[in-house]
Amino acid sequence: MAGLDEMLGGGFPRGHVVLATGLPGTGKTCLALQFLLSGVAAGEKGLFLSLEEETEALTESARLFGWPVEEALRSGGLSILRLDPKETRGNLHRIQSELPRELRQLGVRRIAVDSVSLLNMLSDDEPSRRATLFALAAACRGAGATTLLTAEADPRHPEVSRDGLSEYVSDGVLLLGYRPAEDGHRVGLSLRILKMRRTAHLRSVQPYVIGPHGLVLDARAVDFGP
Ligand SMILES: Nc1ncnc2c1ncn2[C@@H]1O[C@H](COP(=O)(O)OP(=O)(O)OP(=O)(O)O)[C@@H](O)[C@H]1O
Ligand SMILES: [Mg+2]
Repeated sequence: MAGLDEMLGGGFPRGHVVLATGLPGTGKTCLALQFLLSGVAAGEKGLFLSLEEETEALTESARLFGWPVEEALRSGGLSILRLDPKETRGNLHRIQSELPRELRQLGVRRIAVDSVSLLNMLSDDEPSRRATLFALAAACRGAGATTLLTAEADPRHPEVSRDGLSEYVSDGVLLLGYRPAEDGHRVGLSLRILKMRRTAHLRSVQPYVIGPHGLVLDARAVDFGP
């Protein structure tokens, strides 16, 4: 993402599991696709684990953006794995047993999971949610990939994810949120890096827009200090 790499001093650290939390429409799915496609452009295989949108909806929205998702799927640079949230038990079993091997066999360098909020809804209790999240993060790390998880923000406390667990399995947290625009009416978007283990990063609140190239940081930083 233009500008984010600079904020981090050079992109997501390799092998990290990074969480992007945000309210609906803040661009989580868009960021996930963008992350994978920039990997494909650099010759890194990517996997999109989708619990929300169907493969067709994802390719359609990428097509509207003019992004080469279909080409990447055809060339094998990108795969989409759709986990149907209705198949609760099958998915939980798969994540804990087969997924680590599947990811290693695919040889993926980047993984996006959209979203862990839906994944968490598959489990009835917190210990099971925690076990699933840890298994997923371990499978991604075990495959040697860099991972982006997306999560819905809690509408009452938009600085944390709805489940309040995903932050703890992640090495880094990006917060996507709304802010009042300068004209006082329109609502703009802003991004903040809440944490990035083992990395010196900026802590400024950075306005961004969603345009034809996806999420792009506004060059004018709103710096609220460290
Ligand atoms: N093809 C497109 N061209 C321009 N802007 C788009 C396009 N597709 C989506 N957007 C914009 O991106 C915004 C965010 O979309 P996205 O689906 O990534 O949000 P999200 O955070 O995943 O939302 P949700 O929580 O509902 O899944 C949309 O509201 C829309 O304004
Ligand atoms: Mg989405």
